Amino acid sequence: MTDCKISVVELCIFALMDSGFKNLLHKAQLDKEDVKRLLSAQGADAERLLQRALEVKLSHLDNCVHLRGLIEYGNTCEKNCLYCGLRSDNPKVKRYGLTDREVLSCARLAHELGYGSVALQSGERSDPDFVRRITQLVREIKKIDGGSLGITLSLGEQDEDTYRRWFEAGAHRYLLRIETSDEALYYKIHPKNGTHSFRRRIDCLESLKRIGYQTGTGVMVGLPFQTPDQLASDVFFFRDMDVAMVGLGPFIPHPDTPLFRFKDLIPSAKERMDMTLKMIAVTRLVMPKINMVAATANQTVDPQGREKAILAGANVIMPNLTPEAYRESYFIYPDKACVKDTPQACKNCLDVRLAAIGHKILYNAWGDSLAFTAPRRKV
Ligand code: 5AD
Ligand code: SF4
Ligand code: FES
Repeated sequence: MTDCKISVVELCIFALMDSGFKNLLHKAQLDKEDVKRLLSAQGADAERLLQRALEVKLSHLDNCVHLRGLIEYGNTCEKNCLYCGLRSDNPKVKRYGLTDREVLSCARLAHELGYGSVALQSGERSDPDFVRRITQLVREIKKIDGGSLGITLSLGEQDEDTYRRWFEAGAHRYLLRIETSDEALYYKIHPKNGTHSFRRRIDCLESLKRIGYQTGTGVMVGLPFQTPDQLASDVFFFRDMDVAMVGLGPFIPHPDTPLFRFKDLIPSAKERMDMTLKMIAVTRLVMPKINMVAATANQTVDPQGREKAILAGANVIMPNLTPEAYRESYFIYPDKACVKDTPQACKNCLDVRLAAIGHKILYNAWGDSLAFTAPRRKV
């Protein structure tokens, strides 16, 4: 006899549990309970989940990472999200707006660096001057080297007419995170005063898809009051909305925002990072062909965060091209990565970091989402 404490029966139970988890990783259609089980995986099971998501990514896509040179156009915002440093009620923000000349020189730099695409992002504004200037800037960016740059916009909620004008000017991808697909939680992290509407956000996503944008959405992970059940629902929200792109990142408490007072209620930075990776992985299993961003917020909570996100199924990175003088004013959350690094330094850094994990940047390509199918147009 040995003095082993684990009985044969217990060993059989462990083996069955183990094969149950492995089967789940290969199941054709995951349901909500499956997703919840995957999101609760720890240790070796969590590793298996990330490994499986990487396999799925490599078999449906490849080991290439697409870049979008990020241009943070301005930090004036009409909205007042309770988590974001740019909220209109934050008096500490030094508001700025790039000139047209600055935006175009960032776009030319993106082209020179071989990035293939730019992403124009800003606080939300809907005044006619803003709408007109963006339309004009999109047209001008499209003139660079005969339309060689792809354009992603991330400019918040707009009416359908505005989205259409920007699309017709040449933008073809749009990111609008739902932040959480749970309506009750949405109103815990946004003021409920008429300026924020969960319904309108969904309507905006529908408008974007109808117009023909490759549409992206996403959520923050580790929000106060957020439950695993809500995160599982977020994954099905992405699937049911049939989006072409998803961006997921950990919530990072900002000291000048109302949600900061709940900072002791949220999971630790490591737990938020681990859950973000599991969310990326599960989303990759459910939507194998979409584009998924390895958000900069991942690198804020973990120095290897973006690489880990790529290895968990993400395939897009958005290196910052905003002129250095404005970088610190785009203070959505604290400790943003790369704020002091030049575009050239980030490019070299990414080349090396991605090579180290068996990936490579696909230069001079738009890197569109393979999950995208253009809406049928009426004839
Ligand atoms: N932590 C993490 N992400 C944040 N965002 C805004 N504030 C925070 C924060 N405190 C994200 C939101 C928004 C995007 C521009 O930045 O998801 O959509
Ligand atoms: Fe404005 Fe976007 Fe920040 Fe909300 S998350 S306050 S809309 S910049
Ligand atoms: Fe910016 Fe590494 S990606 S310094």
